[in-house]
Amino acid sequence: MIGAVTTDLALVAVGAAIPARILTNEEISQRVETDDAWIRERTGIGERRIATAEESVTTLAIQAARQAVERGDIAPGSIDLVVAATASPERSFPSIAALVADDIGAHSAGAVDMLAACAGFAYALSYAVGQIAAGFAETVLVIGTETLSRITDWDDRGTCILFGDGAGAVIIKAGAAPDQELVVVELGADGSKGDDLRGDLTDRDGSGVDRNIRMNGSAVYRFATQVIVDSATRVLEAGQRTHSDIDLFVPHQANLRIIESGVKRLGFPPERVLITLDQYGNTSSASIPLCLDHAWRTGRLQPGQRLLMMGLGGGLAWGTCLIRWMGRGA
Ligand code: COA
Repeated sequence: MIGAVTTDLALVAVGAAIPARILTNEEISQRVETDDAWIRERTGIGERRIATAEESVTTLAIQAARQAVERGDIAPGSIDLVVAATASPERSFPSIAALVADDIGAHSAGAVDMLAACAGFAYALSYAVGQIAAGFAETVLVIGTETLSRITDWDDRGTCILFGDGAGAVIIKAGAAPDQELVVVELGADGSKGDDLRGDLTDRDGSGVDRNIRMNGSAVYRFATQVIVDSATRVLEAGQRTHSDIDLFVPHQANLRIIESGVKRLGFPPERVLITLDQYGNTSSASIPLCLDHAWRTGRLQPGQRLLMMGLGGGLAWGTCLIRWMGRGA
């Protein structure tokens, strides 16, 4: 599906939780047969963060949410809805979102988690956009939070080099932009390719529960290189924009080669593309807000900028959003 709505909603704040523990490529190469040069050349990843035993998808989400609320000077009681996306849930319920809402004091908010793997944040953001555009909500907290290290097979060199932990949160508000313009969302999924990237929660075929990420790397690679271009092109068209109207492109942080080929075909100059996978690896649903947090801290995120943001992966699903940033500078 693709939709465009004329609205004055915008992103107004971002926060992050970045675990302190760094896992380098060298450390991984002590466990499986790989090396720093191979990982950097094939993926662009230099290191990733790993949650400690005390950290969880919930604690990371709370940390990121607290920071977004503080940076945006948001009254917690004014938050109408909390949506948390994750590909590495610890449990079915209570939701991460409900625990975050309680912690930050968003006592009149609805709360729900979303499972759409690496597209989760984009799906959660699109839900927030829809609720605001329909007039059901004015202020929404959207979170992407992951402890992928806990569902990684550390003996599988095809996947263990890729993933990292962390969380990011944004606040999206009605009436934040000075004028109305098109906000665009595309959501897609191709379940026929679902087994190319999966993580089980239950014993689905009676052979024991394998919660670890299982991936057909080259199939996902082909899917990603195609969808990054196709989805971005459709969203720009629906928003009546070209690549030169986009101030920052936030592609899914899975593999630098996928990003570079997409960016080249789309025509974005490199200085308008956010990259953090060299530091954080693929953090799935946390990728987009972690990029925004990095851009905010380094002064690249400025009020009025148009952001084109994309998440893609397990499903195989994708989500792309064209939306404005109206938050304060760092
Ligand atoms: N270190 C060294 N060699 C490795 C390796 C590693 N960590 N992982 C795989 N290899 C080997 C393979 O075994 C294979 O060896 P062979 O030719 O002797 O069989 C060779 O490298 C090439 O494997 P291939 O899978 O074709 O590599 P690739 O260039 O496709 O890179 C990925 C592998 C995983 C980096 C790449 O497929 C990828 O990024 N896929 C998409 C991942 C993605 O986006 N996932 C998440 C979406 S959210």
